[in-house]
Amino acid sequence: MLFAHISDLHFRSEGRKLYDFIDTNTANADVMNRINSLDEKPDAVIITGDIVNCGLPSEYNVAKRILGFLNYPIYVIPGNHDDKVHFLDHMGPLCPQLGNDPENIAYKVNTDHAQLLFIDSSQSGESAGWISESILAWLKNQLKHNTKPSYLFMHHPPIAFGNRQMDRIACKNGHELLALIDEFPHFLRIFCGHVHRTIFTQYKQAIIASAPGTVHQVPYHFTDPTDVYSIEPPAMLMHRLVDNVGLVTYSQPLSQISGPYRYFSSIGCPGD
Ligand SMILES: [Fe+2]
Repeated sequence: MLFAHISDLHFRSEGRKLYDFIDTNTANADVMNRINSLDEKPDAVIITGDIVNCGLPSEYNVAKRILGFLNYPIYVIPGNHDDKVHFLDHMGPLCPQLGNDPENIAYKVNTDHAQLLFIDSSQSGESAGWISESILAWLKNQLKHNTKPSYLFMHHPPIAFGNRQMDRIACKNGHELLALIDEFPHFLRIFCGHVHRTIFTQYKQAIIASAPGTVHQVPYHFTDPTDVYSIEPPAMLMHRLVDNVGLVTYSQPLSQISGPYRYFSSIGCPGD
């Protein structure tokens, strides 16, 4: 199976731009068309939060219309920029697994060889994350009763990446997730958004990684705490379940690219 993983779309209302100069709506429409045009079609598209920028119904109207372009099932969770109620109202029709309780957004998708787990790590009115007791209990229950390789998707990283700007708004009780990694050896990945950059680290047997933003990024600074963002070539992560290996993750650019080109030895080393 193959999953396309995008994050932090930050849609704005019709005709509005992010910070009045970044056209997230147009750029995200381009992203959806690129995903639809992939040679190797994903089985689903995973979106790890910050669907819109200000939590407004008018932003969700745009998001719902443009995400509706996708030719695949969507598995989506909210981020700190989302409003839980408006998020559910507009994303529910695209992702029925979300249910209808804005304070308990957590669901699973079982495949033949893995379980995918999706949880809300946002707390209303806060930039930092927090996983509620009920969602933690739900998660523990899933891990206890399904021992297939388990991959969790959430918005906030549960661990400090050493990124001075973003660590202070990571998931404040991420240590409770790490305790589940300690307890369940088949808990193998946590994939996040929030930090607008591809970052990988490891805790015990689990890789903890973040996906970049679809439009704007956040520089990684170890020492400088200044809040900054940047426009860099955007990308998404592709997660492929490979027989006898498990989950393999690679980066897929979302900017204008050239190729792919075939390799031909006659032009690679033409005798010079
Ligand atoms: Fe974001």
